[in-house]
Amino acid sequence: MTTRLAPGTAGPASGRREAIMTPVPAAGATTPAVRLRDAELAFGPRVLWSGLDLDIAPGEFVAVLGPNGAGKTSMLKMLLGQLPLTAGTVQIAGRQASRGSSAIGYVPQQRSFDPGLPVRARDLVGFGIDGHRWGLPWPGRDRRQRIDAALAAVGAGGYADSPVGMLSGGEQQRLRIAQALITDPAVLLCDEPLLSLDLAHQQAVSNLIDRRRREAHTAVVFVTHEINPILSMVDRVLYLVGGEFRIGPPDEVMTSAVLSELYGTPIDVLRAGDRIVVLGTDHHVHHGDHDDIEVL
Ligand SMILES: Nc1ncnc2c1ncn2[C@@H]1O[C@H](COP(=O)(O)OP(=O)(O)OP(=O)(O)O)[C@@H](O)[C@H]1O
Ligand SMILES: [Mg+2]
Repeated sequence: MTTRLAPGTAGPASGRREAIMTPVPAAGATTPAVRLRDAELAFGPRVLWSGLDLDIAPGEFVAVLGPNGAGKTSMLKMLLGQLPLTAGTVQIAGRQASRGSSAIGYVPQQRSFDPGLPVRARDLVGFGIDGHRWGLPWPGRDRRQRIDAALAAVGAGGYADSPVGMLSGGEQQRLRIAQALITDPAVLLCDEPLLSLDLAHQQAVSNLIDRRRREAHTAVVFVTHEINPILSMVDRVLYLVGGEFRIGPPDEVMTSAVLSELYGTPIDVLRAGDRIVVLGTDHHVHHGDHDDIEVL
Protein backbone atom coordinates (compact mmCIF):
# COMPACT_ATOMS: atom_id res chain seq x y z
CA MET A 1 0.00 0.00 0.00
CA THR A 2 1.07 3.58 -0.34
CA THR A 3 1.73 5.32 2.91
CA ARG A 4 2.00 9.00 3.39
CA LEU A 5 3.24 10.64 6.51
CA ALA A 6 0.65 12.26 8.67
CA PRO A 7 1.26 16.02 8.90
CA GLY A 8 3.69 16.89 11.63
CA THR A 9 5.33 13.48 11.81
CA ALA A 10 8.96 12.90 11.05
CA GLY A 11 10.46 10.17 8.90
CA PRO A 12 9.51 6.63 9.80
CA ALA A 13 12.85 5.64 11.22
CA SER A 14 13.66 8.67 13.34
CA GLY A 15 12.90 9.25 17.03
CA ARG A 16 10.53 6.99 18.90
CA ARG A 17 7.16 8.75 18.88
CA GLU A 18 8.13 10.60 15.76
CA ALA A 19 8.94 7.31 14.08
CA ILE A 20 5.33 6.43 13.70
CA MET A 21 4.22 6.44 10.13
CA THR A 22 0.48 6.50 10.12
CA PRO A 23 -1.18 5.93 6.79
CA VAL A 24 -3.35 8.95 6.09
CA PRO A 25 -6.74 7.74 4.94
CA ALA A 26 -7.64 9.07 1.52
CA ALA A 27 -11.13 10.51 1.08
CA GLY A 28 -13.65 7.67 1.23
CA ALA A 29 -10.97 5.22 2.44
CA THR A 30 -12.12 2.09 4.24
CA THR A 31 -11.94 1.69 7.99
CA PRO A 32 -8.53 0.44 9.14
CA ALA A 33 -8.43 -3.24 10.06
CA VAL A 34 -6.50 -2.28 13.21
CA ARG A 35 -6.34 1.14 14.79
CA LEU A 36 -4.16 1.81 17.83
CA ARG A 37 -4.01 5.23 19.44
CA ASP A 38 -1.46 6.13 22.11
CA ALA A 39 -1.56 2.50 23.13
CA GLU A 40 0.36 1.21 26.13
CA LEU A 41 0.70 -2.27 27.55
CA ALA A 42 2.37 -2.75 30.92
CA PHE A 43 2.60 -5.50 33.49
CA GLY A 44 2.89 -3.64 36.79
CA PRO A 45 5.81 -1.24 36.50
CA ARG A 46 7.13 -2.99 33.38
CA VAL A 47 6.04 -1.15 30.24
CA LEU A 48 6.23 -3.37 27.15
CA TRP A 49 5.42 -0.51 24.81
CA SER A 50 3.69 2.86 25.02
CA GLY A 51 2.73 5.75 22.77
CA LEU A 52 1.94 3.36 19.95
CA ASP A 53 -0.14 4.85 17.13
CA LEU A 54 -0.73 2.47 14.27
CA ASP A 55 -3.31 2.05 11.54
CA ILE A 56 -3.16 -1.21 9.63
CA ALA A 57 -5.04 -1.07 6.33
CA PRO A 58 -7.17 -3.93 4.99
CA GLY A 59 -4.82 -6.27 3.13
CA GLU A 60 -1.69 -4.80 4.69
CA PHE A 61 1.05 -7.21 5.84
CA VAL A 62 2.78 -6.11 9.05
CA ALA A 63 5.67 -8.13 10.48
CA VAL A 64 6.27 -7.82 14.23
CA LEU A 65 9.89 -8.43 15.17
CA GLY A 66 11.95 -8.18 18.33
CA PRO A 67 13.87 -10.25 20.86
CA ASN A 68 12.33 -12.74 23.31
CA GLY A 69 10.17 -11.00 25.87
CA ALA A 70 9.77 -7.79 23.84
CA GLY A 71 5.99 -8.08 23.90
CA LYS A 72 5.13 -9.53 20.50
CA THR A 73 2.75 -12.24 21.73
CA SER A 74 1.30 -9.76 24.23
CA MET A 75 0.58 -7.43 21.31
CA LEU A 76 -1.47 -10.17 19.64
CA LYS A 77 -3.27 -11.00 22.89
CA MET A 78 -4.16 -7.34 23.27
CA LEU A 79 -5.58 -7.28 19.72
CA LEU A 80 -7.54 -10.43 20.57
CA GLY A 81 -9.10 -8.64 23.56
CA GLN A 82 -7.39 -11.03 25.99
CA LEU A 83 -5.10 -8.38 27.48
CA PRO A 84 -6.46 -4.89 28.16
CA LEU A 85 -4.38 -1.88 27.18
CA THR A 86 -3.09 0.06 30.18
CA ALA A 87 -3.54 3.30 28.19
CA GLY A 88 -4.90 4.37 24.82
CA THR A 89 -7.37 2.68 22.52
CA VAL A 90 -7.58 -0.21 20.09
CA GLN A 91 -10.15 -0.87 17.41
CA ILE A 92 -10.50 -3.87 15.13
CA ALA A 93 -12.36 -3.08 11.90
CA GLY A 94 -13.90 -0.03 13.57
CA ARG A 95 -15.04 -1.80 16.74
CA GLN A 96 -13.56 -2.25 20.16
CA ALA A 97 -11.36 -5.35 20.39
CA SER A 98 -13.28 -8.11 22.16
CA ARG A 99 -12.68 -11.73 23.06
CA GLY A 100 -14.08 -14.23 20.59
CA SER A 101 -14.63 -11.64 17.86
CA SER A 102 -15.14 -13.23 14.46
CA ALA A 103 -13.28 -10.23 12.98
CA ILE A 104 -10.02 -11.84 14.10
CA GLY A 105 -8.34 -15.07 13.11
CA TYR A 106 -5.51 -16.26 15.33
CA VAL A 107 -2.70 -18.73 14.73
CA PRO A 108 -1.11 -19.11 18.19
CA GLN A 109 2.58 -19.67 18.90
CA GLN A 110 3.10 -23.22 17.70
CA ARG A 111 2.79 -26.44 19.62
CA SER A 112 2.63 -29.86 18.04
CA PHE A 113 -0.50 -31.88 18.46
CA ASP A 114 -0.27 -35.04 20.53
CA PRO A 115 0.11 -37.93 18.06
CA GLY A 116 -2.78 -39.73 19.79
CA LEU A 117 -5.18 -36.77 19.66
CA PRO A 118 -8.50 -38.15 18.43
CA VAL A 119 -9.32 -35.10 16.30
CA ARG A 120 -9.55 -35.17 12.52
CA ALA A 121 -8.25 -32.32 10.37
CA ARG A 122 -11.79 -31.25 9.49
CA ASP A 123 -12.83 -31.19 13.17
CA LEU A 124 -9.94 -28.90 14.00
CA VAL A 125 -10.91 -26.47 11.23
CA GLY A 126 -14.55 -26.64 12.39
CA PHE A 127 -13.51 -25.43 15.87
CA GLY A 128 -12.76 -22.12 14.14
CA ILE A 129 -16.50 -21.73 13.51
CA ASP A 130 -17.62 -22.95 16.93
CA GLY A 131 -15.15 -20.75 18.77
CA HIS A 132 -17.02 -17.70 17.53
CA ARG A 133 -20.58 -18.94 17.89
CA TRP A 134 -22.87 -19.31 20.84
CA GLY A 135 -26.05 -21.34 21.01
CA LEU A 136 -27.18 -23.65 18.25
CA PRO A 137 -24.49 -25.35 16.20
CA TRP A 138 -24.02 -24.34 12.60
CA PRO A 139 -26.37 -26.39 10.37
CA GLY A 140 -24.75 -29.63 9.16
CA ARG A 141 -24.57 -29.10 5.41
CA ASP A 142 -23.48 -25.44 5.46
CA ARG A 143 -20.94 -26.26 8.07
CA ARG A 144 -19.47 -29.11 6.06
CA GLN A 145 -19.28 -27.00 2.92
CA ARG A 146 -17.58 -24.23 4.78
CA ILE A 147 -15.02 -26.56 6.29
CA ASP A 148 -14.36 -28.20 2.92
CA ALA A 149 -13.83 -24.77 1.35
CA ALA A 150 -11.47 -23.72 4.16
CA LEU A 151 -9.49 -26.98 3.82
CA ALA A 152 -9.29 -26.59 0.04
CA ALA A 153 -8.13 -22.98 0.35
CA VAL A 154 -5.02 -24.10 2.22
CA GLY A 155 -4.45 -27.19 0.08
CA ALA A 156 -5.40 -29.56 2.92
CA GLY A 157 -8.30 -31.33 1.22
CA GLY A 158 -6.22 -34.48 0.80
CA TYR A 159 -5.93 -35.10 4.53
CA ALA A 160 -9.28 -33.74 5.70
CA ASP A 161 -10.13 -36.92 7.56
CA SER A 162 -6.69 -37.71 8.97
CA PRO A 163 -6.05 -37.46 12.71
CA VAL A 164 -4.17 -34.17 13.22
CA GLY A 165 -1.51 -35.74 15.43
CA MET A 166 -0.42 -37.92 12.50
CA LEU A 167 0.21 -34.98 10.18
CA SER A 168 3.54 -33.23 9.58
CA GLY A 169 4.31 -29.85 11.11
CA GLY A 170 3.67 -28.10 7.79
CA GLU A 171 0.34 -29.87 7.33
CA GLN A 172 -0.71 -29.03 10.88
CA GLN A 173 0.20 -25.40 10.28
CA ARG A 174 -1.99 -25.23 7.18
CA LEU A 175 -4.89 -26.50 9.28
CA ARG A 176 -4.31 -23.85 11.93
CA ILE A 177 -4.43 -21.22 9.22
CA ALA A 178 -7.62 -22.72 7.75
CA GLN A 179 -9.14 -22.65 11.25
CA ALA A 180 -8.12 -19.02 11.74
CA LEU A 181 -9.53 -17.95 8.37
CA ILE A 182 -12.83 -19.82 8.41
CA THR A 183 -14.82 -16.84 9.71
CA ASP A 184 -13.33 -14.63 6.98
CA PRO A 185 -11.77 -12.27 9.55
CA ALA A 186 -10.69 -8.69 8.88
CA VAL A 187 -7.38 -9.41 10.60
CA LEU A 188 -5.22 -12.51 10.73
CA LEU A 189 -2.83 -12.68 13.68
CA CYS A 190 -0.01 -15.21 13.35
CA ASP A 191 2.48 -15.91 16.14
CA GLU A 192 5.68 -17.34 14.64
CA PRO A 193 3.76 -19.51 12.16
CA LEU A 194 6.91 -20.65 10.33
CA LEU A 195 8.66 -22.02 13.40
CA SER A 196 10.10 -25.50 12.84
CA LEU A 197 9.00 -25.64 9.21
CA ASP A 198 11.55 -26.41 6.50
CA LEU A 199 12.21 -23.82 3.80
CA ALA A 200 9.73 -25.28 1.33
CA HIS A 201 6.95 -25.32 3.93
CA GLN A 202 7.89 -21.85 5.17
CA GLN A 203 7.42 -20.64 1.63
CA ALA A 204 4.17 -22.53 1.11
CA VAL A 205 2.62 -21.30 4.38
CA SER A 206 3.69 -17.69 3.87
CA ASN A 207 2.48 -17.72 0.25
CA LEU A 208 -0.87 -18.96 1.49
CA ILE A 209 -1.16 -16.05 3.91
CA ASP A 210 0.03 -13.59 1.29
CA ARG A 211 -2.53 -14.80 -1.24
CA ARG A 212 -5.30 -14.47 1.29
CA ARG A 213 -4.52 -10.87 2.11
CA ARG A 214 -4.31 -10.00 -1.58
CA GLU A 215 -7.51 -11.78 -2.56
CA ALA A 216 -9.67 -11.19 0.53
CA HIS A 217 -7.95 -8.02 1.87
CA THR A 218 -7.35 -9.67 5.21
CA ALA A 219 -4.85 -7.58 7.16
CA VAL A 220 -1.98 -9.69 8.47
CA VAL A 221 -0.03 -9.18 11.71
CA PHE A 222 2.79 -11.69 11.55
CA VAL A 223 5.10 -12.21 14.53
CA THR A 224 8.41 -13.68 13.48
CA HIS A 225 12.09 -13.94 14.34
CA GLU A 226 12.87 -14.57 10.68
CA ILE A 227 11.97 -11.79 8.27
CA ASN A 228 13.64 -13.30 5.19
CA PRO A 229 10.97 -15.86 4.29
CA ILE A 230 8.38 -13.07 4.20
CA LEU A 231 10.52 -10.12 3.16
CA SER A 232 8.94 -9.76 -0.27
CA MET A 233 5.46 -9.69 1.30
CA VAL A 234 5.99 -7.31 4.20
CA ASP A 235 4.60 -3.80 3.83
CA ARG A 236 5.77 -2.59 7.23
CA VAL A 237 7.79 -3.83 10.17
CA LEU A 238 6.92 -3.10 13.79
CA TYR A 239 10.19 -3.70 15.64
CA LEU A 240 9.91 -3.91 19.44
CA VAL A 241 12.91 -3.85 21.78
CA GLY A 242 12.89 -3.19 25.51
CA GLY A 243 10.00 -0.73 25.54
CA GLU A 244 11.07 1.05 22.35
CA PHE A 245 9.75 0.49 18.85
CA ARG A 246 10.07 1.52 15.24
CA ILE A 247 7.48 1.22 12.49
CA GLY A 248 8.12 1.50 8.78
CA PRO A 249 8.90 -0.37 5.57
CA PRO A 250 11.64 -3.03 5.99
CA ASP A 251 14.18 -0.90 4.11
CA GLU A 252 13.75 1.90 6.60
CA VAL A 253 13.63 -0.10 9.83
CA MET A 254 16.07 -2.93 9.08
CA THR A 255 19.14 -0.73 8.95
CA SER A 256 22.33 -0.61 11.01
CA ALA A 257 21.46 2.85 12.32
CA VAL A 258 17.90 2.04 13.42
CA LEU A 259 18.65 -1.35 14.99
CA SER A 260 21.79 -0.04 16.73
CA GLU A 261 19.72 2.71 18.25
CA LEU A 262 16.90 0.37 19.25
CA TYR A 263 19.19 -2.20 20.84
CA GLY A 264 21.50 0.45 22.25
CA THR A 265 24.51 -1.44 20.90
CA PRO A 266 26.24 -1.55 17.49
CA ILE A 267 24.39 -3.81 15.05
CA ASP A 268 25.39 -4.30 11.42
CA VAL A 269 22.63 -4.95 8.95
CA LEU A 270 23.73 -6.23 5.57
CA ARG A 271 21.84 -6.92 2.41
CA ALA A 272 22.84 -10.22 0.83
CA GLY A 273 20.88 -10.45 -2.40
CA ASP A 274 17.27 -10.42 -1.36
CA ARG A 275 18.07 -11.36 2.23
CA ILE A 276 18.70 -9.21 5.27
CA VAL A 277 21.55 -10.34 7.50
CA VAL A 278 21.83 -8.87 10.97
CA LEU A 279 25.21 -9.09 12.69
CA GLY A 280 24.94 -8.40 16.40
CA THR A 281 28.12 -7.61 18.28
CA ASP A 282 26.90 -9.05 21.55
CA HIS A 283 24.10 -11.19 22.89
CA HIS A 284 21.30 -8.67 22.56
CA VAL A 285 20.00 -9.86 19.23
CA HIS A 286 18.43 -13.25 19.71
CA HIS A 287 17.00 -14.15 16.37
CA GLY A 288 18.70 -17.38 15.46
CA ASP A 289 20.72 -20.25 16.79
CA HIS A 290 23.98 -18.34 17.15
CA ASP A 291 25.04 -15.88 19.79
CA ASP A 292 27.12 -13.47 17.77
CA ILE A 293 25.90 -13.77 14.20
CA GLU A 294 22.21 -13.72 13.69
CA VAL A 295 20.53 -14.18 10.37
CA LEU A 296 17.09 -12.63 10.36
N1 LIG B 1 0.05 -12.07 31.94
C1 LIG B 1 1.28 -11.62 32.19
N2 LIG B 1 1.61 -11.10 33.40
C2 LIG B 1 2.84 -10.62 33.64
N3 LIG B 1 3.85 -10.62 32.74
C3 LIG B 1 3.57 -11.11 31.52
C4 LIG B 1 2.28 -11.65 31.17
N4 LIG B 1 2.32 -12.06 29.90
C5 LIG B 1 3.57 -11.81 29.45
N5 LIG B 1 4.32 -11.24 30.43
C6 LIG B 1 5.70 -10.80 30.29
O1 LIG B 1 5.76 -9.82 29.27
C7 LIG B 1 6.94 -9.97 28.50
C8 LIG B 1 6.58 -10.11 27.05
O2 LIG B 1 6.05 -11.39 26.81
P1 LIG B 1 5.65 -11.87 25.36
O3 LIG B 1 5.17 -13.25 25.47
O4 LIG B 1 4.73 -10.85 24.78
O5 LIG B 1 7.06 -11.78 24.60
P2 LIG B 1 7.42 -12.15 23.11
O6 LIG B 1 7.96 -10.91 22.47
O7 LIG B 1 6.30 -12.82 22.45
O8 LIG B 1 8.63 -13.17 23.33
P3 LIG B 1 9.04 -14.53 22.53
O9 LIG B 1 9.87 -14.09 21.36
O10 LIG B 1 9.88 -15.25 23.53
O11 LIG B 1 7.79 -15.27 22.17
C9 LIG B 1 7.67 -11.18 29.07
O12 LIG B 1 8.70 -10.72 29.89
C10 LIG B 1 6.61 -11.91 29.83
O13 LIG B 1 7.16 -12.59 30.92
MG1 LIG C 1 5.94 -14.77 21.76
